[in-house]
Amino acid sequence: MVKPDGVQRGLIGEIVSRFEDRGLKLVAGKFMQIDQALAEEHYGEHADKPFFDGLVDFITSGPVFAMVWEGADATRQVRKMVGETDPAESPAGTIRGDLGLDLGRNVIHASDHEDPGSNEREIDLFFDDDELVDYERVDEGWLY
Ligand code: PPS
Repeated sequence: MVKPDGVQRGLIGEIVSRFEDRGLKLVAGKFMQIDQALAEEHYGEHADKPFFDGLVDFITSGPVFAMVWEGADATRQVRKMVGETDPAESPAGTIRGDLGLDLGRNVIHASDHEDPGSNEREIDLFFDDDELVDYERVDEGWLY
């Protein structure tokens, strides 16, 4: 998900391009405004953290661009491309290392590959089944 800071800075295209260039397959995308209830559910595991209220305020502060990408080991690949939570600790070449400003404004959220099921859970939270587009690419033999 491109977060509100990424949308405000006009980075949707840049971020989509990075995943396309990596060979991942886009199966859903939605430009949307997250409300309080969805934000609190999405970040529910962090409810007891000191930054929780600020995180909910931030993610509801403006529109986001939610996406579903498919590919071999896609959740882990995407996390590698996203980098560390803190852009300052994120290597150059990662999305946050190249584009992130600070710990809050880190331009993108991605499902946690170390939390089994987090990708499915977040897809269910943000998308209806009929919003996931089932299609084949030119050569399914080597493209995902
Ligand atoms: S933890 O404590 O390791 O589970 O947290 P982490 O996975 O690093 O971060 C969880 C989400 O909270 C955001 N975050 C913060 N936002 C604002 N201020 C501070 N200090 C802060 N610390 C962490 C972080 O970007 C994560 O959001 P997502 O959307 O998953 O990137």
